[in-house]
Amino acid sequence: MKAAVLYEVDTPLKVEDVDLDSPKSGEVRVRIVANGVCHSDYSIIHGVLRSPLPMVPGHEGAGIVEEVGPNVSLVKPGDHVVLSLAPYCGHCYYCAIGKQNLCVNMFQTMVKAAMIDGTCRLKKNGKDIHHMAGISSFAEQAVVAEQACIKVPDEVPLDVVCLIGCGVMTGVGAAMNTAQVEPGSSAVVIGCGGVGLNVIQGCVLAGASTIIGVDLLDNKLDYALQFGATHTINPSRDELVRSVRKLTGGRGADYAFEVIGLSRTVEQAYACTRQAGTTIVVGAGSRRDTVSIPMGTFLTEKIIKGSGYGSARPHLDMPRLVEHYRNGRLKLDEMITRTYALEEVNEAMTALEKGEVARSVVVM
Ligand SMILES: NC(=O)c1ccc[n+]([C@@H]2O[C@H](COP(=O)([O-])OP(=O)(O)OC[C@H]3O[C@@H](n4cnc5c(N)ncnc54)[C@H](O)[C@@H]3O)[C@@H](O)[C@H]2O)c1
Ligand SMILES: [Zn+2]
Ligand SMILES: [Zn+2]
Repeated sequence: MKAAVLYEVDTPLKVEDVDLDSPKSGEVRVRIVANGVCHSDYSIIHGVLRSPLPMVPGHEGAGIVEEVGPNVSLVKPGDHVVLSLAPYCGHCYYCAIGKQNLCVNMFQTMVKAAMIDGTCRLKKNGKDIHHMAGISSFAEQAVVAEQACIKVPDEVPLDVVCLIGCGVMTGVGAAMNTAQVEPGSSAVVIGCGGVGLNVIQGCVLAGASTIIGVDLLDNKLDYALQFGATHTINPSRDELVRSVRKLTGGRGADYAFEVIGLSRTVEQAYACTRQAGTTIVVGAGSRRDTVSIPMGTFLTEKIIKGSGYGSARPHLDMPRLVEHYRNGRLKLDEMITRTYALEEVNEAMTALEKGEVARSVVVM
């Protein structure tokens, strides 16, 4: 089968034939139908997020189950699924406290870039190729843990709901689960890319009344308004903190989301947060980058929170997101600016880098 392989940081993905082992116990083989392009793929390719290589990126996929390994009970061949990047175990400490997105047994899939048992199913000439988030969906097929498969009704378009696999779950979840945005509140969202636009949609679903989209690119600010922002700010023209205060009764926002992955913009988000308000960091930055917060500001009781995968409880939240899409409360079709073939995956990365798209999707 064909897959897009990253051999070295800062080099293009190579679309070539690779081998895929059969699913082992608790695993499933999925024919990938479509896969959204996320900034985290870009960050892996450019070494901002570190990973063992070679690797097949892609972690925002949807497809159809083709084969199940032994001891699989959650899905069967023919099921349509969105892939969750949190294949949680269900019995560790974090799963027990309802933080499946922090499951300790998922560690292998994230840090070692392998399946939950620490081995790889992807191979080339007998050598291992690593997996991204236990998924690796820039490929015609993928072997994934059965817990990564979230069943969706046959009639929903997989080339649209694939976005729920990362960007939508991460963005809407950051607003609804991590921040628990209150109706009537104010929010500022710094970075209006594929994930940030979904933070905006999450704030709308939660009933926020003032939603301020912030981006350096005016086309992204147009998208922000389309997805529910009430105001926009381009910090290259207007001073950010002052502009946010002006729109929030002079106090600053109840919630400030950073959705880029840079220390500078985390510091800006914190500065835009009102006293006792909450800063939520969604952006995934480099381990070498550190955030600096003035000591004096702790007296203002601001809260700063990270958000991993929108604090997802995948089997609860992802079907709900599909329902929000089906009843028109979540805009997904509008999110897809362009589609690409797998052979064009590097062009999709360039479009993301240049900020040309809200989201693009690679359709197999
Ligand atoms: N926390 C998680 O679990 C999780 C999951 C998915 C993605 N992410 C991360 O979220 C971030 C956003 O991902 P995305 O796919 O939306 O990326 P994207 O490239 O689509 O969007 C980023 C946006 O930030 C804007 N931007 C860049 N620098 C800026 C600045 N200084 N001020 C204002 N705007 C600026 C860009 O113009 C762009 O619109 C990335 O860091 C990604 O790795 C985190
Ligand atoms: Zn992602
Ligand atoms: Zn667990």
